[in-house]
Amino acid sequence: MRKKRILVTGGCGFIGSRVVQRLLATPHAIFVIDDLSRADRSAIPEGLVDLKVCDIRSEAAREYIREIAPHFVIHLAAQIDVQVSIAEQLLDADINIMGTLNVMEACKQVADFERFVFASSAAVYGNNAELPLTEDAIPMPISPYGMSKWMGEEYLKLNHETADFPYCALRFANVYGEKGTAAKDVISEFWDKVTSGESPVIHGDGEQTRDFVYVEDIAEALVLALDVQENGIYNISTDEQTSINDVLRVMSELLQVQVVPENRMARVGDVRDSRLSNRKFLEMTCWQPLHRLAKGLERMHVEKQNQEMVLMK
Ligand SMILES: NC(=O)c1ccc[n+]([C@@H]2O[C@H](COP(=O)([O-])OP(=O)(O)OC[C@H]3O[C@@H](n4cnc5c(N)ncnc54)[C@H](O)[C@@H]3O)[C@@H](O)[C@H]2O)c1
Repeated sequence: MRKKRILVTGGCGFIGSRVVQRLLATPHAIFVIDDLSRADRSAIPEGLVDLKVCDIRSEAAREYIREIAPHFVIHLAAQIDVQVSIAEQLLDADINIMGTLNVMEACKQVADFERFVFASSAAVYGNNAELPLTEDAIPMPISPYGMSKWMGEEYLKLNHETADFPYCALRFANVYGEKGTAAKDVISEFWDKVTSGESPVIHGDGEQTRDFVYVEDIAEALVLALDVQENGIYNISTDEQTSINDVLRVMSELLQVQVVPENRMARVGDVRDSRLSNRKFLEMTCWQPLHRLAKGLERMHVEKQNQEMVLMK
């Protein structure tokens, strides 16, 4: 395998740090851009990865890309919080649209550039209720976050059509796993509450469903996407629907804790049901989601225990 230069933006984050770990098992040279706004530099091993601390919207980021001339970019850096996107639409669009454009424009100047892998989201589908959602379902975002991710995809598509820019956009379902200090998703929030004996909060009746995919399966999909020759959009999911109430049930069985949730009003911007067909990516690659929910939660449990042991030493 020829050694390539791979840049991971947001490489210190929840998904990015797993991608970096996975790439370190390859012969490639790994570079990271991260402004550390939501992560710590200790998330990636010192010495093995070249880290540039800067904002993806900056001239410094463009300059760095010119300097390292990556063959591949895995673009993960983003504003990822739906509620923040509603409260601060300008910020969300600035990071997710303008930041993506800034990185993409710099990549267009790299002579041997091979592929831009973009982290998109199921939020693009919004209220489209044709489950399981396939990649040609009509985007109907119901949050600025879903809209900004869709716009990122559209710019990539446009640049592919007009300038032959090579890209692959992966629409992730709901990603879970041990998050450390990263912002919490529903599974991490439940975990914290359940293990500290507090009542987890459920927005709505808890019968809303999500397609939960384990973070290591996502990292593997991102690495495999580097070799996907067909430009376009791919769902990355388990293709299974799990209700929020079921998540809590499986978690309390695993942790052997009885829990009584606190039900609050459903939130604006949250979709009711979600399930993504993963057939297109499965047919294109050898990827498989290897963790069903119970197995992913078990892995999370083991990781948390290991971290606690390291902290105690
Ligand atoms: N976690 C999920 O469930 C999920 C689902 C769908 C899509 N995604 C997408 O996957 C990607 C990674 O998500 P994550 O869960 O790892 O999030 P994260 O917040 O843990 O990671 C994002 C990383 O980007 C960095 N960052 C943020 N803004 C930046 C900026 N302006 N310049 C440079 N660095 C910046 C942060 O410091 C962080 O390290 C995002 O694009 C997100 O939209 C995540």
